[in-house]
Amino acid sequence: MSGQLVHHRPQWKSRVGFLLAAIGSAIGLGNIWRFPYLCYKNGGGAFLIPYFTALLVVGIPLMILEIGLGHKMRGSAPASYATVNKHWEWLGWWQIIFVMFGIVLYYSVVIAWCLNFFFYSFNLSWGLDPDTFFFKKFLMVGSSPFQVGDIRSPILFSLAAVWFLNWFIVFSGVEKGLERANKIFMPVLFGLVALLSLWSLRLPGAGQGVLVYIKPDFSKLKDMGVWIDAFSQIFFTLSLGFGIMIAYASYLPRKTEIVKDSIAISFTNCFFSVFAGFGVFAVLGYMAQATSQPVSKVVSQSIGLAFVAFPKAISLLPAFSQIFGMLFFGSLVIAGLSSSISILEAFTSGIVDKFHYPRKIIVSILCVTGFLGSIIFTAQSGLFWLDIVDHFLTQYGLVIAAIFECLIVGWMYKAKKLREHIRHTSLVSVPKAWDFQVRVIIPLVLVVLLVNSLIKEFSLPYEGYPVLSLVIIGKDWLIYTLAFALIVSGRSWKIEPSRREQH
Ligand code: ALA
Repeated sequence: MSGQLVHHRPQWKSRVGFLLAAIGSAIGLGNIWRFPYLCYKNGGGAFLIPYFTALLVVGIPLMILEIGLGHKMRGSAPASYATVNKHWEWLGWWQIIFVMFGIVLYYSVVIAWCLNFFFYSFNLSWGLDPDTFFFKKFLMVGSSPFQVGDIRSPILFSLAAVWFLNWFIVFSGVEKGLERANKIFMPVLFGLVALLSLWSLRLPGAGQGVLVYIKPDFSKLKDMGVWIDAFSQIFFTLSLGFGIMIAYASYLPRKTEIVKDSIAISFTNCFFSVFAGFGVFAVLGYMAQATSQPVSKVVSQSIGLAFVAFPKAISLLPAFSQIFGMLFFGSLVIAGLSSSISILEAFTSGIVDKFHYPRKIIVSILCVTGFLGSIIFTAQSGLFWLDIVDHFLTQYGLVIAAIFECLIVGWMYKAKKLREHIRHTSLVSVPKAWDFQVRVIIPLVLVVLLVNSLIKEFSLPYEGYPVLSLVIIGKDWLIYTLAFALIVSGRSWKIEPSRREQH
């Protein structure tokens, strides 16, 4: 027995602090550049139908599950699953390991690009041809994923700054670091995005862009790919399957509002995306008018939207271009940081729970390792790697993790028990139908999604990359992290997870 090893869990100082941190995790780079483009590509306003369907069918119920589980077990993802059943501890490790040694490695590099572009905005360094500037001069993209090439020093420097900020915030702890940072980040981000959107909507031609953004093309809804995009986006955007919401909820006090908070976090995130989309398309509409082209010609794919189309539009602005650029890239940096710190926290809490090593040392080692691991994405082959790893981890890793999550909580722990827990701790209860959703509907929907993604993969290798590179870089990333997860879950606990609930 380890009487003196009582586990002291940090706590959010206030409910607003928790809400802002969870919203900060959800709102990220994906909301500002990925959502508007997906919406445009998949039928404009009509995309909102699969998107909000995904939010209601999978997003909110899973958010309730993750927050409910973390709150009930008062533990990180590995500790929470291990409390349900020791044999499933590996799932929690796998989630936080592939997110920490996968997603956040390239995610922090994209934040670093935003930081570079923030400074480039001072004198609009991208000049008259942002396309050549971004791909040829800034990234110096190589010819294949296997030709690693040189490390790009401008990216390396800002990457170091990003990891320093990550370290500084998470090192300071839950209340003094994460909560305090998000209390500053979120209002600033909302303010900046509101300002940018209003500014954009007043530009000549903005209406034309907005029309393209929202004009529904219902025929697109027959395409399965549109539904896959909507469901995968919901996962990524709500930070579900990352183990983050479980860890964040474990820092909540006993009496709390799980259902209300889950709905508030999910809707705030999704409305933020829709709102930011108006600003993005207003700018594209302005650019279309200024260059006498149709809007369809000025829209570019995800990364191109932020780093090519936007710089072009910024240069064309009638006044204060530099300020607009700084505000735009500054908001991306803030949105990205509030998500990357949540990933670090999810991993840190897993290690603290299991091994009880001092938090500050874990965070420091983690940030140095994270920085070193990210360097591969700053090389000339970085864009290829980023694209492949992102595709595999988000389309497969997060979805597989969520299927297991539902099965473990729904069948092994029993959805009803978790629903009862929520009823006892919150004023608003979860409807009974939630049990069926968690046990049957969500796993079924996700399996269909997974099978369809796999079929697409084999019939048409992702983005036309050589199959070998996809297998080596993508699939193996998932398998190695799984092996690592199995090893860590084999180690013994300082305090057994089944005893954790009492502390
Ligand atoms: N939820 C975060 C985003 O959308 C990871 O960027």
